[in-house]
Amino acid sequence: MADEPLVLGIETSCDETGVGIVRGTTLLADAIASSVDEHARFGGVVPEVASRAHLEAMVPTVERALKEAGVSARDLDGIAVTAGPGLAGALLVGVSAAKAYAYALGKPLYGVNHLASHICVDQLEHGPLPEPTMALLVSGGHSSLLLAPDITADVRPLGATIDDAAGEAFDKIARVLQLGFPGGPVIDRLAREGDPAAIAFPRGLTGPRDAPYDFSFSGLKTSVARWIEARRAAGEDVPVRDVAASFQEAVVDVLTRKAVRACKDEGVDHLMIGGGVAANSRLRALAADRCERAGVRLRVPRPGLCTDNGAMVAALGAEMVARNRPASDWDLSADSSLPVTATHVPGHRHPHDHVHEVGKENLYS
Ligand code: KG4
Ligand code: ZN
Repeated sequence: MADEPLVLGIETSCDETGVGIVRGTTLLADAIASSVDEHARFGGVVPEVASRAHLEAMVPTVERALKEAGVSARDLDGIAVTAGPGLAGALLVGVSAAKAYAYALGKPLYGVNHLASHICVDQLEHGPLPEPTMALLVSGGHSSLLLAPDITADVRPLGATIDDAAGEAFDKIARVLQLGFPGGPVIDRLAREGDPAAIAFPRGLTGPRDAPYDFSFSGLKTSVARWIEARRAAGEDVPVRDVAASFQEAVVDVLTRKAVRACKDEGVDHLMIGGGVAANSRLRALAADRCERAGVRLRVPRPGLCTDNGAMVAALGAEMVARNRPASDWDLSADSSLPVTATHVPGHRHPHDHVHEVGKENLYS
């Protein structure tokens, strides 16, 4: 529908420079440039390298997105950007770029939360989110269970990891197994040829007195590393596929068990799974299975929309515009530890004020 908001979203919280364009809940473009190869030899994302790569990729990626969507920047109803959480220097590149485009074009600016964006992106695939939605967010930086009565204004944390994030555990185990970085995709692939029941690795925080919705993966990581070391010390081969499958099973067993339990406890009939680890094939299969048995409808975006991208930011921005949420002020700053409850960083003015303030003669054309 032509009257749905046309929004461009910019994501630079980690190592992907993402620029997406959506109209309402329809995806028009999803342009991405990744610096992942530049970090691979360090075994993790190097913040300074990521910031520099964002700076170089920013303008070409915006132009690619506009071309792909076949729209003119002048027709946009708003510019959304990840204001946090994430790497401070990396976020700053996106926020500065978004401000420059918004100001030059005379468009309202929306600084939005990266985690709420990971949830909202599913609107592009499965239509409007039910309210409330239960969301399991699992990425390299976060593992949280969130109850979202309103994705633009009300996201409540039910539980989170007390140590490593789920994706971080995949990355660390991949390093121990010398499989390269990032670890998730390669472990996922190798695990398909392994036996998930070969080794009984521990399920963290699943005891009767443990916090029902919190996660812990550091004990699992240590247990897997010790198991591998013991094999190596004994001069035996490490059955990489079985280790990958058994480790992965321990992670996804806990994630899905706790997420389905949260749905039941809170009386929510939908579960959304997002973040990079939601691309995991075993997580998707086990979640589908357990949700079906519990009468919960599962929503997981396709893998390309689960990992960091600009479309997710545009999706949340469009929702902000549709619900007439206040735009951000021009002094919007990046907040590396923006709390999950801050779905966006509203300013004091109405969205239309921005347009009047800059005036009809925009600086862009
Ligand atoms: O959401 P994302 O792209 O960036 C963050 O915000 O962290 O997530 C990246 C994380 C990495 O830790 C990566 O290993 C993990 O997601 N990941 C996977 C898979 N694909 C990516 N983990 C398990 N299985 C996968 N197929
Ligand atoms: Zn992310």
